[in-house]
Amino acid sequence: MLTQEENELLTGVGRETPAGQLLRRYWFPIAVTQDLNDQPTKFVRHLGEDLVLFKDLSGRVGLLADHCSHRGASLLYGRVEERGISCAYHGWLYDCEGNILETPPERNDAIMNSVKQTAYPVKQFIGMYWAYLGPLPAPAIPNLDVWVRKDGKRHVFVHPTMDCNWVQAQENSLDPTHALILHQDAGHRKARPVDSTRGFIDDMTGFEFPLTDYGIMKDEIFGNGYVEQHPIMFPNVLRVHNSTEIRVPVDHTHTRIFEVYFDMSEDGTINDDDELELPVEFGDPYKEPAEALHPFTRAKMDTVPQQDQAMWESQGLVSDRPHEHLSYSDRGVSMLRKMIFDNITKVQEGEDPLAVFRDPNHPMIDTGLTRAVQHRKPLGINTDTYEVATGKLIPAGTHDNVNQRWNKSAPQT
Ligand code: FES
Ligand SMILES: [Fe+2]
Repeated sequence: MLTQEENELLTGVGRETPAGQLLRRYWFPIAVTQDLNDQPTKFVRHLGEDLVLFKDLSGRVGLLADHCSHRGASLLYGRVEERGISCAYHGWLYDCEGNILETPPERNDAIMNSVKQTAYPVKQFIGMYWAYLGPLPAPAIPNLDVWVRKDGKRHVFVHPTMDCNWVQAQENSLDPTHALILHQDAGHRKARPVDSTRGFIDDMTGFEFPLTDYGIMKDEIFGNGYVEQHPIMFPNVLRVHNSTEIRVPVDHTHTRIFEVYFDMSEDGTINDDDELELPVEFGDPYKEPAEALHPFTRAKMDTVPQQDQAMWESQGLVSDRPHEHLSYSDRGVSMLRKMIFDNITKVQEGEDPLAVFRDPNHPMIDTGLTRAVQHRKPLGINTDTYEVATGKLIPAGTHDNVNQRWNKSAPQT
């Protein structure tokens, strides 16, 4: 449980909030390359800021505040030319750094010398445009194995935008038990559990959260000795199997997930593509009606992502943490919150927070991707099913004994 003040501290994304200042120390994907192929401009809301991404006719990509510095028309309708983007209304011309190059019909040097359109650095990397909204110099995009390994190919999946704060999605990454209860009847499963209350949770015998240099490892220990690992790179990335879910805070109550898959080549073949553009797929809405909020919509609940979204959105636009009751198995959630609070403090003390990399050539972050991809099959664990992991289910009626096993450690705040 958190106080209302702590909940606000945890979930802020705006520039004026401490957590928003923390989030502004990281690069986030904000669009896919294809978004600028047919149109030269795209409206983007990111960390609560309204922005326009554009590509000028000399091929440079910029990210400017949406409202023109003249009288506030949207640069979404701007015309791009060699020198930058020209506001459709009266033609004020901006370059990618936000400098005003022209102020038609007159040339107003006083304005050109004193006014700047808010502008942020953009990078094109693994099929997406990434933005950095923090203090300069910007750090490097981390060399995470899924993003930089050369012995395979990548593709991108963009989930429908979710109507909830990003922390709800990331808390789920530190919540190993839900996977075997919430997802017990996801469409890919072949078996059915003994009862729906425990689902397949008793296939798992425990879990741990060791700290890593870049965040937290989630170790899920199964009955046959297999340990499934899901690394979390602070603050917003989760790797599961061969993909990373990158949770991007759109604003305080909306989150978009860009998922990057790495398809490792069987024989180690090296892929030298620049990967500026990757195959991309956009997920269909996970609820009907798609634009409505809980309880005026209903999630489809057939697939794992649909089930997850149903839980996160039904917690509320911002989860009501002052009224929750954390139990022993929520200790990963508590760890994440503490890590966010600790890193807010670090930023306030002028330090780089966790998982900010200054050297673009830093060693690759090895999250155990090879093991995740190759070592499951010999143990008989199918990528998409848990029930083959053990073949054994705890029969109904023995729950008391099982509960003793789970009640090992006390919850933190
Ligand atoms: S509002 Fe943009 S040039 Fe006038
Ligand atoms: Fe899930």
